Amino acid sequence: MTDDASRILAADLLDEADQAVEGTLRPHSLAEYIGQREVKANLSVLLAAARGRGEAADHVLLYGPPGLGKTTLATIIARELGVNVRYTSGPAIERAGDLAAILTALDDHDVLFIDEIHRLNRAVEEILYPAMEDYALDVMIGKGPSARSLRLTLKPFTVVGATTRAGRISGPLRDRFGATYRLDFYEEDDLTAIVLRSAGILGVEVTRDAAVAIARRGRGTPRVVNRLLKRTRDHAQVHGDGRIDLALAEEALSALEIDEVGLDITDRKLMAAIAQKFGSGPVGVAAVAALLAEEVETIEDVYEPYLLRLGFMDRTPQGRILTDGGRAHLRKHGYDVPPPRRPEQDMPALWDSAALEAEVAAAPDGEPSA
Ligand code: ADE
Repeated sequence: MTDDASRILAADLLDEADQAVEGTLRPHSLAEYIGQREVKANLSVLLAAARGRGEAADHVLLYGPPGLGKTTLATIIARELGVNVRYTSGPAIERAGDLAAILTALDDHDVLFIDEIHRLNRAVEEILYPAMEDYALDVMIGKGPSARSLRLTLKPFTVVGATTRAGRISGPLRDRFGATYRLDFYEEDDLTAIVLRSAGILGVEVTRDAAVAIARRGRGTPRVVNRLLKRTRDHAQVHGDGRIDLALAEEALSALEIDEVGLDITDRKLMAAIAQKFGSGPVGVAAVAALLAEEVETIEDVYEPYLLRLGFMDRTPQGRILTDGGRAHLRKHGYDVPPPRRPEQDMPALWDSAALEAEVAAAPDGEPSA
């Protein structure tokens, strides 16, 4: 499998061509936006109220796995408010002065989208607090004993912050958002509707059962289904008559080595590593990342959320484990799966604090047994 093919399912990775096409497939209004019903309903009230008052909308924090539409929603928020949107990200704003330059260039009620907002550095965050709270920019003039602070007034604006996990943001920053919305993986029906909508925009004929087959392998993620649709379209153009029916979709998806639940070779390698090298766990995420030559953050944000959702993996206080379901899936795909080092029923889940406490109390040294 080529690098390119192995990246098809990575919801956070986009090359330039994909970005350009993705732009054309993105919904432009809340009415066009499929899925995330609760977020849409709450957001539409927030936006209508701000419009009605003629004020900048409250700051909005969006969190959830990559590829679920955080940037799209920021763009829609600005459109619905009839204002401009400026896109930046936590790592891109290196110094307090960088943020000051961005903030002073915003127009009345503009939207400032800050992706990966959990990666803002401390000095930048401190400039952002008064900016978000009072539309004020505190600048230091001079150095040493003669230094003084000058407060500049900014035009009212709206921060739309995005992060893969709300828990990564500092408390003071989180407190400055008036609304926090969690984006969840999309249901299969919504993904099917997205495939059909995107096919219409791309001008490719897709049968409903083929759209369902693509949606089912889309990891609950619009960005992934759109990419699968494009690769399937390529396959239809080269190996068929350009139309996508169920047989052609299945042929294209299996040529990409994407299995029936949407896992690719990298997901299966990750699961196989836990099964074969670590007796199905528990194993620390750093060890898994090192073995696969991936960043810990990529494992945590790109691969794990969907494996957790499928119930193929679990997080425990001692580390990651591969579940019975995960082992069965690997076996079905021809992997050699040794018996788990520790039976699953003995493994308290991270959120199952009662079971964990009981185990800690029972252990002679006060630690859960490994
Ligand atoms: N394309 C990508 N995400 C979408 C969504 N949520 N609704 C409609 N089309 C989309």
